[in-house]
Amino acid sequence: MLEELAKIREEALKRLESIESEAELTELNVNILGRNGALTGILRGMSKLSPDERAAMGKEANEVKQSLTAAFDEVKARLEAKAEEERIKAETIDVTLPGVIDVPAGKLSPLTLVYRQIRDALIGLGFTTYEGPEIELDDNNFTKLNLPLNHPSRDMQDTFYVDDKVLLRTHTSACEARALMTLEPPFRLVIPGRCFRVDEPDASHSPIFMQMEGLVVDRNLTFADLKGTIDTFVKAVFGESVKTRLRPSYFPFTEPSAEVDISCTICGGRGCSSCKGTGWMEIMGCGMTNPHEIENCGLDPQEWKGMAFGVGVDRVACLKYGINDIRLLYEGDARFLRQL
Ligand code: DAH
Repeated sequence: MLEELAKIREEALKRLESIESEAELTELNVNILGRNGALTGILRGMSKLSPDERAAMGKEANEVKQSLTAAFDEVKARLEAKAEEERIKAETIDVTLPGVIDVPAGKLSPLTLVYRQIRDALIGLGFTTYEGPEIELDDNNFTKLNLPLNHPSRDMQDTFYVDDKVLLRTHTSACEARALMTLEPPFRLVIPGRCFRVDEPDASHSPIFMQMEGLVVDRNLTFADLKGTIDTFVKAVFGESVKTRLRPSYFPFTEPSAEVDISCTICGGRGCSSCKGTGWMEIMGCGMTNPHEIENCGLDPQEWKGMAFGVGVDRVACLKYGINDIRLLYEGDARFLRQL
């Protein structure tokens, strides 16, 4: 019996060494220490022994039981520590991994799309981009552009004033003054930006809107250069078949001045409700820079001529994409952008 006991212990300890899972450990525990286990069987068989033998066997068997129980506990602790370590490893977040959440990709606003089309066509003609601040001096927005204080045409634009001398620019033409005062001519500029006017928002008005100014300053410029430039980018945006026409108009900063119409994008020029039966749609103002403006900005109007235009980017975007409410361009509603 003693031999058997020693064998049970030896084998159990050997098996314990190679145990890798809690399930294996439980199984071994049941087979040895369980109700029908090998060691329990021996303890039961002791009743048949003489009292002396029983005392000696009992002592030995108890020792084996205790040492095996301790060995089982030790292995259990080892397995638990290993499981904990694996759990922590699995839970570690590698912040450098790419995300798995499906974030919907953004879309470009129709304003950006149209702006880029016009800009790229103009860059093809040798223009470069230029920008100025949205909060502007009254001087750059009006006075330098041949709109002195009390000039009646200041009423053409309802202005958000910050104080007597500072305002939210009402048009990108304010950047003309900055460019003329700081850049060395000749130059060709395309100037995009947000502008602001006191306006009740409705389908065709927004107090914030986007304009794009074109300004060319050079020694020999004619009205034909202006018409050709406008024609080029209008065709780039609306296609080769679209026609442009110039109508005499008035702007203080250009002389002569013109309004640019394009053949109706809906009916192709035959006349429809969108163009009020005329076949034409107005998209911008333009003209040859008024010599007063050139002089006000410190250049010699005898030497330097200018030509300029100011496009309502929102208006062009609405025409091009068939958008019937300008406010949609500024509300940032993802459902609207997704449709484009
Ligand atoms: N600044 C004008 C406006 O906001 C648009 C404009 C007209 C700009 C004629 C120009 C121009 O440069 O030559 O209505």
